[in-house]
Order: sequence, then structure tokens, then C-alpha cells
Amino acid sequence: MKKKIVILTGAGISAESGLNTFRDADGLWEGYDVNDVATPEAWDRDPVLVQHFYNLRRKAVLEALPNAAHKALVALEARYEVTIITQNIDDLHERAGSSHIVHLHGIITRSQSSANPALTYPVEGWELKMGEKCELGSQLRPHVVWFGEPVPMIEEAARLAAQADIFMIIGTSLLVYPAAGLVNFVPRQARKILIDPKAPKVAGVSGIESVKMKAGEGVPQVVRELLL
Ligand code: APR
Repeated sequence: MKKKIVILTGAGISAESGLNTFRDADGLWEGYDVNDVATPEAWDRDPVLVQHFYNLRRKAVLEALPNAAHKALVALEARYEVTIITQNIDDLHERAGSSHIVHLHGIITRSQSSANPALTYPVEGWELKMGEKCELGSQLRPHVVWFGEPVPMIEEAARLAAQADIFMIIGTSLLVYPAAGLVNFVPRQARKILIDPKAPKVAGVSGIESVKMKAGEGVPQVVRELLL
């Protein structure tokens, strides 16, 4: 039986693809107030602004390419059963070729009914327009989880984390819950590897191997070791 590797990724893995992280010096939130663009209240108040903000995010994602870190994770599938749990709304793990990906915070290349979050659709191109409606007749919004909204995939993610033989954490500040709490579901005996130049603190978990490198270098290095 193949060993199970479960990998939690955050914005840092896509930084070298040219997509801004949220909380670094040049982070995305620096130019925006989260409350203006990433909450249900913002959508109720000013849907045009919110739609525009995410149209720009979608455009940037479509123009970006998977980097060495996304690609290296694909190679692990030769030897391990690999699941990626990503907080990212980009599709770079998909485009790199990974097979099992759970999107905790949604994916920007899909739209979502503003009446029923379970209704999602592919977006053609970068722009989701006001006036584009779901089958129930309500405006389409980006398929992303906003602050204050439930995270429907978290139970599935916790179930997967609990089965890990090896758990990797790549490029996340671990400041946003419930995603940051997933590490607490990982079995105590599992190997835990963190790849992030800032090596964020992981509360309540010991024995973490910290690789203080950028993902583009650190991930291929760790993958090489895991495939030896
Ligand atoms: N390689 C690896 N890690 C990097 C790199 C890099 N090249 N550049 C930055 N990082 C690390 C930073 O050190 C930081 O720990 O990536 C992390 C980015 O943290 P955040 O910006 O907070 O992003 P993330 O943890 O993914 O945010 C979680 O918050 O705003 C919400 O929904 C959004 O999914 C997002 C969630």
C-alpha cells in the first residue's frame, strides 16, 4: 500500500508564479480592505466593486503559470497517494497536473449562484459580468469562500489530514481558520514538513521539520528526498 501524503498549500506556493500573497509586505490585502471586497456584506453593499476585484484576480490567475513547486508535487504521485488541500483560489495545482485537489476556499475559474452556493459553473474567460445569472435567476458571483462564510470542504479536509503518513505545509501564514486548524487532525506519529521562508508558528504541534526556503526551491528539494 502506498503511503499517504497530504499537503496543505497557501498563497506562498503561487508567489513565484507572480500571484501576490495576502499578508506579505506587498500583499493583496495591503491595497484593499478585506471588508470591502471579501465578505457577504461587501457583496450586498457593492456587488460591482466585488465582482471587479475578483475579475482582476481571475485575469491574473489565467495569465500565471504553475511554477517548480506545483510541478514537483506532481512527481510525488509516482510513489505516494497524494492529496493537496489548497487555500488558494487559483488553478495552478490542476494545471501542473496534480490528481487529487481539495479547494477549501473555492476556485476563481468558477462562478457561484448568489442564491444557492451549491450551484457552480465554469467562467468563460476572465470576466464575470453583472447580469449573468444562475439557473434560479440570481446574479452569479465568484466561487470563493468569503470571510464569515462556512467552509463546506473543511470536514472532508479534516478526514484526509487524519489519514496522513506525511503532512506537508507550504506557503501559508496559518492565520486563517478553520484551514490553520487542520494540522491538529494529523496523527501524532506522522512526519510533518513545513516549507516557508518565514516558518510560521504551528500552534499545539511538535516535531515539525522546518525548511526555511521559497517554495520554488524548497519543494523540489523535499520532493527529491521523499523519492530517494
Ligand atoms: N514560497 C513559499 N512561501 C512563501 C513565499 C514563497 N516564494 N512567499 C511568501 N511565502 C509565505 C509567507 O512567508 C507566508 O507565510 O506564504 C505565506 C503567505 O501567507 P498569507 O499571505 O497569509 O496567505 P495564506 O496563508 O494562503 O492566506 C490564507 O487568507 O485571505 C485569506 O482566503 C485567503 O486563502 C487565503 C487565506
